[in-house]
Parts: sequence; structure tokens; C-alpha cells
Amino acid sequence: MSKKLFIQTLGCAMNVRDSEHIIAELSKKEDYSLTEDIKEADLILINTCSVREKPVHKLFSEVGGFEKVKKEGAKIGVCGCTASHLGKEIFKRAPSVDFVLGARNISKIVQAVNTPKFLGVDLEYDESEFDFEDFRVNPYKTLINISIGCDKSCTYCIVPHTRGDEISIPFHIIEKEAKKAVEKGVKEIFLLGQNVNNYGKRFSNAHPRIDFSDLLQRLSEIENLERIRFTSPHPLHMDDKFLRVFSSNEKICKSMHMPLQSGSDEILKAMKRGYTKEWYLNRAFKLKELCPEVSISTDIIVAFPNESERDFEETMDVIERVRFEQIFSFKYSKRPLTKAALMPNQIDEKTASRRLTHLQNRHAEILDEIVATKKNAEVEVLFEELRAGNAVAGRTNTNFLVQTNGSEELLGQIKRVKITNPRRMVLYGEVV
Ligand code: SAH
Ligand code: SF4
Ligand code: F3S
Repeated sequence: MSKKLFIQTLGCAMNVRDSEHIIAELSKKEDYSLTEDIKEADLILINTCSVREKPVHKLFSEVGGFEKVKKEGAKIGVCGCTASHLGKEIFKRAPSVDFVLGARNISKIVQAVNTPKFLGVDLEYDESEFDFEDFRVNPYKTLINISIGCDKSCTYCIVPHTRGDEISIPFHIIEKEAKKAVEKGVKEIFLLGQNVNNYGKRFSNAHPRIDFSDLLQRLSEIENLERIRFTSPHPLHMDDKFLRVFSSNEKICKSMHMPLQSGSDEILKAMKRGYTKEWYLNRAFKLKELCPEVSISTDIIVAFPNESERDFEETMDVIERVRFEQIFSFKYSKRPLTKAALMPNQIDEKTASRRLTHLQNRHAEILDEIVATKKNAEVEVLFEELRAGNAVAGRTNTNFLVQTNGSEELLGQIKRVKITNPRRMVLYGEVV
């Protein structure tokens, strides 16, 4: 009888992929199988996020919950970004934890499970060429890491302290992983890195030079691969070559994430983002010119230290001009080890909430207008999920969620769909 693994994943797509790697390693090398019932688990893992304060609190409340329900002898492991930056403090704050495994040390999972009080949080550790076993939750699309770590030092961000310096994964490893997935029926690959379009600047060994645009072109040559997505590109590295390749290569999905963070030059400087509002708008408009069908998403932080009403209006101005299809917006959260945490003029909670609500409300209006234009449009959808009431859902090339009537036969298929009832969260339609 195989042992049971329960795993909870917080945070971003990188953590989702790390969890898949953990599951793959443990099932192939230690005979674990997944369970959704925590009470029967022999091993309980939480893969943590540190980017804002909230998920860190969540870690400790969740571990408290695990202790109460776990069966006798079951182990608890804390992995991921909070494991990296809190390290052995986690054992002090939660003595029931059996091991702590930082985000850059995932390949040591088997050793961690078998070593009492194992602590693996080395930020120098290089797993860019580690050959992970293969596993993915979704059979139709796969996440693929193309780099680990981050070489930027945005002053609000803890990620470089949890995932270390940036190292690119050699092209032949990425290509092998993509081909293997496609052979197993995967239609879409989703390339992951903190700054994907900085790819190829540093490898841990001697490898042929290749930049992100070349990487996209070469992966698009894989037979039977239908779609390529990626996140996150950095606005600073959006050169013309990259925008041209993005726009002209048919396999690259036409949805671009362009993390703005702020529209104010003063704040962008204090954040150390490396670009100005003018540069950002120039890149966004160039992109729309080359690729009129593109949908653009962004990340925005409101109430960064010293952000004035005028600074905030600059952000709103970019929102009016770019008309993003999707915005991930956050109140600034003070993080340990970051420069911004020490800056004067931290913004009070009430102001932060007011700005966030204002931004989100205005974006909802813009999105309603965008969505209304989709009525009667014909779009291509990769179906990937069954929904209640004999329905199936999937994403357009431009990353809108679409739902139609249908069943299993549609899963994994790309079909044309006519949109009949476009709503803010879902475009409802019919297969044509
Ligand atoms: N590498 C990506 C971002 C990864 S973190 C990039 O540069 O775009 C994901 C998002 O979390 C960031 O884009 C930012 O908007 C948000 N974020 C990061 N640190 C934060 C903080 N201290 N407070 C609030 N939001 C933060
Ligand atoms: Fe954080 Fe900036 Fe790196 Fe993104 S680019 S992970 S925001 S330091
Ligand atoms: Fe991702 Fe959270 Fe780490 S956003 S990189 S899991 S801090």
C-alpha cells in the first residue's frame, strides 16, 4: 500500500510547479500517492508564499490546523518561499513541523522527508539542471520553469530573498520537458520565471547563448504543440525583437502580462523598477500596434511608501490609457529584508484601502465595456475543465475564460466558439 501525501499550495504559478515537482519526486522515489483527505495522510506539506504578510500568517494557522487532524505518526513539512526566509524559526514557532525546505531546494525533498528536522534553505543552491520526475495536475497544459530566482531588487519585494539570484535553465532541458509533455497529449506550455524575457543572461554551466525571443521561436517548432504562454515578462526588457516575435508567432498566445506596479515616475524610481511611465506606455502602445488583438494584464501595488494622491492618479491614468483586460492589484505590504520596509511615510491602511477600492471599481467598469464588445465574436478555446450543469470551460488565446454546454469529449480540444452572453468573469457561448 502506498503512503499518502496531502499537499496545500499557496502563492504563484512557480509554487504550483514546485508542488508538482515535489509530488512527482515523492511518488516515483518514495511510493507516495496524493490524497485530498488530510486525516489519512502520512505526509502533510504546505508550500508557502511570502510575497505579502497575509500568506505568512496563513502558514502558521494552517499548521495549527494540521496538528489537530493529522493521524498518529504523520509528518508535517513546510516548503516554499516562507520556508526560505524564516528557516529554522519555523521549528521554534511550530514545533510539530518535521522539516523545512526552501523554494530553491525542492530537489532535496526525498532527503528532507527522511531526515529528522531537516533544514534546506540554501539560496546559493543550484537546481537549474536537476532532472525532476514528470507530473502535472492538468493533462492538457503544463507549466515549465525556464529560470529560477530573480536578479532585480525591487525595493518592496521579498522574492530575491526567497528564491535567490537568477539562473536560466539550459534550453535542451526545457525543450526535452516540453516535447515529453506534448507526446503525452499536452497542447499548451506555460513558461515560468520571475523575469522570463531576461532569459539566457546566466547559466550555471557553459551553454550556447540564447535569448527569450529565440527560446520562444525554437519551442514553437515542436510538432503538435498548439499554444505557448509565459509569465512574467518585465517591461524593462520588452525590446522590439521580443514584441515582434510575440506578435508574429502564431503559437504564442496573445495575452501579455506587463506588471506596471505604479504609474508614477517618482514611485517607480523608489521601487527601483528601472522604467518610467513613458517607457511603459511606449511599450504597451507598440505592442497594441503590432498585435491589435492582444489582451494585456498587469500587477499594481497601491500605497507604496510616500505615494501621494498625484502619484496614485498617475497610476489611474495608465489604467485609463492602456485599458487592461485584467489587473491583479494589491495594497503595499511591508516585507522583512526589503528596502521599502525602512522607508519613511508608510501609507495608512484607510488610504490604502480607499485607493485599492477606487482602482478596482474603475477597472470593473472598463472591463464591462471590453467584455460587451465580445458579443457574437468567434474565438478559439482550449477546453480543459468540466463545470456543473453539463458545461465545459476553457481559455481563449487571449486568456478569457469561456464556458459552453458540453461534456468530456471536448476536453483537451481546441474549438471555435461563438460568444452569446459575455459576462465579466466568464464569456458564455456555443461551439460553432
Ligand atoms: N517577477 C514579477 C512579480 C512577482 S511577485 C514581476 O516583476 O512582475 C507578484 C506581484 O506581487 C508583483 O508584481 C507585485 O505586484 C506584488 N507584490 C510583490 N511584493 C509586494 C509587496 N511587498 N506588497 C504588495 N504587493 C507585492
Ligand atoms: Fe520581485 Fe521585482 Fe524580482 Fe519581480 S522583478 S520578483 S517584483 S524583485
Ligand atoms: Fe511566488 Fe509567493 Fe514565492 S508569489 S515566488 S510563492 S513569495
